[in-house]
Amino acid sequence: MRIVELIKSDPEIYNAIMEEIRRERDKIVLIASENYASRAVLEAQGSVFTNKYAEGYPGKRYYGGCEYADVVESLAIDRAKELFGADHVNVQPHSGTQANMAAYFSVLKPGDRILGLSLSHGGHLSHGAQVNFSGMIYKTYFYGVEKKIGQIDYDKVRKLAKRHKPRMLLAGASAYSRIIDFKTLSDIAKEVNAFFLADIAHIAGLIATGNHPSPVPYADFVTTTTHKTLRGPRGGMIMCKTEYAKSVDKMVFPGLQGGPLMHVIAAKAVAFKEAMTPEFKHYQLQIIKNAKELSEALIARGFKIISGGTDTHLMLIDLTGKNITGKDAETALDLAGITVNKNSIPHDALPAMITSGIRIGTPIVTSRMMKEPEMVVIADLISKVLENFQDRSVIGHVRDKVKALCKKYPIYEDLEI
Ligand SMILES: Cc1ncc(COP(=O)(O)O)c(C=O)c1O
Repeated sequence: MRIVELIKSDPEIYNAIMEEIRRERDKIVLIASENYASRAVLEAQGSVFTNKYAEGYPGKRYYGGCEYADVVESLAIDRAKELFGADHVNVQPHSGTQANMAAYFSVLKPGDRILGLSLSHGGHLSHGAQVNFSGMIYKTYFYGVEKKIGQIDYDKVRKLAKRHKPRMLLAGASAYSRIIDFKTLSDIAKEVNAFFLADIAHIAGLIATGNHPSPVPYADFVTTTTHKTLRGPRGGMIMCKTEYAKSVDKMVFPGLQGGPLMHVIAAKAVAFKEAMTPEFKHYQLQIIKNAKELSEALIARGFKIISGGTDTHLMLIDLTGKNITGKDAETALDLAGITVNKNSIPHDALPAMITSGIRIGTPIVTSRMMKEPEMVVIADLISKVLENFQDRSVIGHVRDKVKALCKKYPIYEDLEI
């Protein structure tokens, strides 16, 4: 994309954008919740739709001049319905957290009980963490993962659901590497007469392409972000059964948001179209293959992976036996040009700002067309850094290798530098 005006009018912001392009190109980014959107998605998001107020929904707006806004929002809705097989879709939530808020508010009252995966065991803030609105408004209960197997024990979830009788059972995670059994969780919700919400923010791309079982047939509400494995613009979305369609729509607007971000909705529509292609299906399968290869290569180098591996796009490395914290691992890897995030592991003895683990994911390296052999190289580089994190010469050597690998698998070459 040629930038002509910004360079003259606002060089500080222009320079920051150029540096960000450079960072995204020249580092191996293994943040599991991020992806690099296609140029078509970037173009739609950078379009004049950023100018348009379109409060309301297609055909029922509070502003004039919404005829083209209606086109993009209708396309986004229809494509999402087709992609996920959903009865009803709302594409307006500004983020995954906003989507969860709107889904909760559409059927729950303050003080109602919710049961979800604990943040410290891989859940998300918006699933009832005390520092989040969800923990402030609702009475929260949590299930976790078993220490020995690093996985959810569904019988234990059932027992907790029977004991606490939640009004809503939540499924979904930010740092859980195994298939989530949505069918069993929906059975549990039915047994205790709870609503069932599946938050597929991380695994939406895998689900859209049949690479992870879908909760859509079972769940009352399915919420997601559009920017992780789905590879769209930063944003959220709610899918629901027809009976909740009206209350969800009313809760998103006018309940919780004003005007929808029409430029983002245009980009969501573009991403959904891309997600329906055979190439995207292949891409999602390769994300999983890459994650499996990376986890096996790390295990072969003496690293412990929570649950012993992965079925998805991510894994959690347990650093407890490695003499390094998650915080120091994140810093050392970043110096070497590898971007990850520190992450609590289940039953972590260290606080969330330090942690005993790191989370790594393969969506971005797969977007760069890397395959299994490159995952072995990356595992080797990670291992070198973490085993020698105080050795500047090792880190410098790895940084050179990272640069060479990024050159071999270029991305965003047509963006301006
Ligand atoms: C499972 C899950 N739900 C919701 C969200 C929230 O998304 P956002 O950051 O767009 O609010 C995330 C983000 O990481 C997530 O992992």
